[in-house]
Amino acid sequence: MIVPQENCIKPETVLSKGMFHSLFSKNLVLVPQLNEVYELALAYYESKILTEAELVQNGAYFARVGNQFTDHYLMCTGESVRLPRHSSSRLKSFFIKNQFRTGYASHGLFPYRGKFHPQMIKALINVMGLKQGDTVLDPMMGSGTVPVEASLMGIKSIGLDASPFCSFMTQVKFNALTLPIQPLDQALKKTEKIFEYFTHVTGRFDSCGKIAKASNPGAKIVIHESTTTPDPSHTDQLADLIGTDKSEVLDFLLLAYLDSVGYSERSKRKSPFIQFQAILERYVFVVKKIQHVLENSKSDIAASKILTGDARSMELDDQSMDGIIFSPPYSFAINYLENDAFHLNFMGVNIDQLKETMVGLRGKTIKEKYKLYIEDMDRVLSECVRVLKPACFCTIIIGTNNNQLSKALGVPKEQVRGLHKIIIDLALSHGFSHIRTLSRQISGIANTMRNEYIVILKRQHD
Ligand SMILES: C[S@@+](CC[C@H](N)C(=O)[O-])C[C@H]1O[C@@H](n2cnc3c(N)ncnc32)[C@H](O)[C@@H]1O
Repeated sequence: MIVPQENCIKPETVLSKGMFHSLFSKNLVLVPQLNEVYELALAYYESKILTEAELVQNGAYFARVGNQFTDHYLMCTGESVRLPRHSSSRLKSFFIKNQFRTGYASHGLFPYRGKFHPQMIKALINVMGLKQGDTVLDPMMGSGTVPVEASLMGIKSIGLDASPFCSFMTQVKFNALTLPIQPLDQALKKTEKIFEYFTHVTGRFDSCGKIAKASNPGAKIVIHESTTTPDPSHTDQLADLIGTDKSEVLDFLLLAYLDSVGYSERSKRKSPFIQFQAILERYVFVVKKIQHVLENSKSDIAASKILTGDARSMELDDQSMDGIIFSPPYSFAINYLENDAFHLNFMGVNIDQLKETMVGLRGKTIKEKYKLYIEDMDRVLSECVRVLKPACFCTIIIGTNNNQLSKALGVPKEQVRGLHKIIIDLALSHGFSHIRTLSRQISGIANTMRNEYIVILKRQHD
């Protein structure tokens, strides 16, 4: 039907009112750098679901509510992550561009592939209706974005990953929120000795910056989960250097070292020692910045249980979780074991054995891999429905590589349904209902994967 001219709203009326005032109440001001549609959608849902006081304390996409700055704004603002002088301008502009998305708290420690934007996780925790006292689970936590972010919001969490390196890394990032500063300052004065120490116990760099075999393969310090204790014969030396034997501090230094090992493999611009020095300096800056922010925050850091385990059979009670957020491997896109081989070897992990647990890595041909991936995801979803309380939400973030899927399914690319749709069907068969899907663009690997999807599901009542 053609609308009569006199009923049309005049352009100046629409333009002068602006879009934001139609979506949000007048006293809400969005954070800088909000420029994607899914972010605007999450901001909108937050503004409808949270009270103003909750928006100030836990909102992800608002800088101000009335005259009051939000905690998220205060946490992210200020000097962005301190990068070494030799960093490329591309890297520097990446950190500045993502200051409100990823560059806050301890999230920037260790560049794990496939890591969530913590700001997005904060918003999802909010729109899933999770409140202080609730527990959120990430059964495939990777570098621990969900546990760390939940703790900062005062929400308890359980993080699980098949890779012991992920549990180690997450524990370090969680501990960083409360780490004593003095030994870290001490460590910055002894970087050369600390570097020598780690090189000795983990292996050494050859002249091209590659990892050579450990000079003393028997000498490995134990990377310990919270339940085990460090091997005193090896850690004493390090403890003497920094004046404490607190395992949290030693692990923190070790993660910085392992980070520099990976960095040196990727970039030959600087010597491994220079990399280590710069990375440790950045790590210590991160700890000081977040602790300074937390001193003025009203919320306490909530407890998090960080575990190594298999999402296909979790040692968690039935109906014990108030929410689940996770991102599975996107079929067989990233080989996490290859990426972390050095760290896992150093931890004494049997990589071949671990491969059998890892979703997306089992199988030889692409068809077999896909079949096993779907079988594994079926088990993961059945576990999610078992541990989740009725009427609670489970959010899955997943991308699709249609080229790969077309080969796996033996159908033309145009006919591929998308992995997120396949996962939604599986979830429905386990008693979830589908509430909403948001799509977000992936930058960087756009030639193989253009979008990922935020799929929000709800567990039906019994
Ligand atoms: C896409 S990554 C998750 C990244 C994470 N969201 C973050 O923010 O860092 C997927 C993770 O699933 C883990 N994984 C694969 N198979 C698993 C299994 N059977 N049980 C638990 N975790 C598994 C991998 O080790 C990897 O860390």
